[in-house]
Amino acid sequence: MEKPIFWIIFVLLLVLIGLCVLSRLPKFQKGNKVAMSTPQAPHKNIIDLPQPELKGKMSLEEVIFKRRSRREYTQESLTLAQVSQILWSGQGITDEKTGFRSSPSAGALYPLDIYLVVGRNGVEDLPEGVYHFLPQGQKLEKISTEDLRESLTKASLNQSFIAQAPMVLVITGEYERTMVKYGERGRQYVHQEAGHTAQNIYLQVESLGLGTVTIGAFNEEEIINILDLPSTHHPLYVMPVGQVE
Ligand SMILES: Cc1cc2nc3c(=O)[nH]c(=O)nc-3n(C[C@H](O)[C@H](O)[C@H](O)COP(=O)(O)O)c2cc1C
Repeated sequence: MEKPIFWIIFVLLLVLIGLCVLSRLPKFQKGNKVAMSTPQAPHKNIIDLPQPELKGKMSLEEVIFKRRSRREYTQESLTLAQVSQILWSGQGITDEKTGFRSSPSAGALYPLDIYLVVGRNGVEDLPEGVYHFLPQGQKLEKISTEDLRESLTKASLNQSFIAQAPMVLVITGEYERTMVKYGERGRQYVHQEAGHTAQNIYLQVESLGLGTVTIGAFNEEEIINILDLPSTHHPLYVMPVGQVE
């Protein structure tokens, strides 16, 4: 009587182990760098971004003159190079020795993070989902496979043009990081830093011939829940980015 039960449990265990092994095998999709599982890739959810360019087509003065808040986007995909350039302008590392970045930061504590909500075909070679920008090494970390633009729109007082953009950036601030050094005043510093980063992104987006707008009208708690952000990452700005006519 005991023997058949033993064999049933043994076979079930074997099937379970087999399923576990199969689920860990890499899945290859065309153009999806996330799926690459080479010995060099430290983590399958980490994506290397193209290196940013240090020369653009417009002068700084021309970009400042042309910058506008743009709320109408075409359905054309962004390129990974454009996305990389935009993220670099906001929080990219511009001095490898010190780790200093493209935007200034009180005490060089860098409390800001940038999340990307990408729609289907929103960015070439980047599947829809949510990503977190890692300035160190200019990389992305994939944190979800869902297209959450509609939810973001609802959380932003239904500003419907947000869901039309192929990509939406969310800039978050970690107050505690700066308040450790500056006390209550650190909260203000984090807000001021978000302004620097958002302006860099505005100008970079404009110089690439794309469009964006800073959205301040949103429900913070809803955005934290939608993106499943760490509770210390407070959303400060939502910025849809897309091609413009
Ligand atoms: C703190 C802040 C919050 C803003 N929030 C919104 C917003 O929720 N929705 C929106 O469409 N524009 C928003 N804007 C953009 C302004 O409407 C825009 O900057 C203003 O109309 C001037 O136009 P310009 O940016 O083209 O010069 C915001 C701008 C700032 C600085």
